[in-house]
Amino acid sequence: MLKNKHIVLGISGGIAAYKSATLVRLLVKRGAEVQVVMTPSGREFITPVTLSALTGKPVITEFFTANTGQWNSHVDLGLWADAMVIAPATACTIAKMATGVADNMLVTTYLSAKAPVFVAPAMDLDMIAHPSTVRNLRTLRSYGNHIIKPAEGELASHLIGKGRMEEPEEIVRVLERFFSSASDLKGKKVMITAGPTYERIDPVRFIGNFSSGKMGYALADEAAARGAEVTLVSGPVSITPSQPGVKVLNVESAREMHDTCQNLFPDTDIAIMCAAVADYAPAQVATHKIKRENQEVPVIELVKNPDIAASLGKIKRHGQMLVGFALETDNEQANAEDKIRRKNLDMIVLNSLRNPGTCFGTDRNKVSIITLDGACTEYPDKSKTEVAHDIIDAIVSRINK
Ligand code: PMT
Repeated sequence: MLKNKHIVLGISGGIAAYKSATLVRLLVKRGAEVQVVMTPSGREFITPVTLSALTGKPVITEFFTANTGQWNSHVDLGLWADAMVIAPATACTIAKMATGVADNMLVTTYLSAKAPVFVAPAMDLDMIAHPSTVRNLRTLRSYGNHIIKPAEGELASHLIGKGRMEEPEEIVRVLERFFSSASDLKGKKVMITAGPTYERIDPVRFIGNFSSGKMGYALADEAAARGAEVTLVSGPVSITPSQPGVKVLNVESAREMHDTCQNLFPDTDIAIMCAAVADYAPAQVATHKIKRENQEVPVIELVKNPDIAASLGKIKRHGQMLVGFALETDNEQANAEDKIRRKNLDMIVLNSLRNPGTCFGTDRNKVSIITLDGACTEYPDKSKTEVAHDIIDAIVSRINK
């Protein structure tokens, strides 16, 4: 997939630059031609000699090569590239890319690149969470750049949190996926639900759950990267999709999610129901805050919410595909198989809260995919990005049957 692909690898000045040597080696091993472009501070973290030895090409760090006076054309490089990867991308480089500050060879090449751009941020947890970085990454997404989300773990500061550059193996996987499956969902309309629903009790309280939206958003990114027209019906979450084409419709309650899905489903080819929908909502929503003082402990009467997946299963037409999730704590397989039938699904993705570090809120998941004909494929514990890839693969192979 990467054979003969021209990859421009931009390296900026962060400690994660040491991983760039591995990244280059993996790309070259797969037959890619790699041209490294470094910022001046990138050179402080890894030497150009190491990288040029691995790529077989001189590393470009300046606009002119000092001893020959040769001009390094960022325009030619930008046109040569089949993909540009910036790894590590520091907060400073991301800010320059977002605002067009072309004061080094890396950013200048970025501005000239016609090829898809992949950005792998690497920085400390407070820097990645700073509103300016959040805004700059959003800007890059709006330019159509692919953001390879940083992982969580121990950082150079020895703090633990989000900001570690994704591992070179995962960056290569992202590129391989991009080149191999860039269009296998082209022409398909995909609706995905994600996140929790909030069921209001009064103006300040609600019944909710721990869903972060990460699994559903990873699915939306994967489907969009593979050419689908994606609409994401999202409960309240604090994340955004990485793919620029994903249309997000924000909802709060199960009732709102139900109505939105009902409207969209007739014009949908594939629906993936990943949201953790509250099964019950308060029968009455108090118009004022329920006070602690002068009152007995309140009893909240609940009513059943609509089952969104089952309601779509009832109106599903021939040719439409309906995929559900099953979040279980026990009797997993039997419960999932019961849901596939009861809700008239074509496929169900089973995940269990018995697997530590998976399901709610984490970056990882461990799933089994069960189809209507009873076939069950178990997958190992993987990142949610990889799980999304497996799920979309399973959907595509079923469509092509
Ligand atoms: O968001 P994350 O933090 O990344 O976590 C991901 C996840 C754990 C939420 C996700 O992987 C997952 O399991 N989603 C489904 C959660 C759930 O509600 O499962 P369930 O077994 O209760 O529901 C079965 C199916 O019916 C699901 O497809 C659900 O979306 C759907 N459903 C459930 C209730 C309801 N009223 N309407 C529905 O459509």
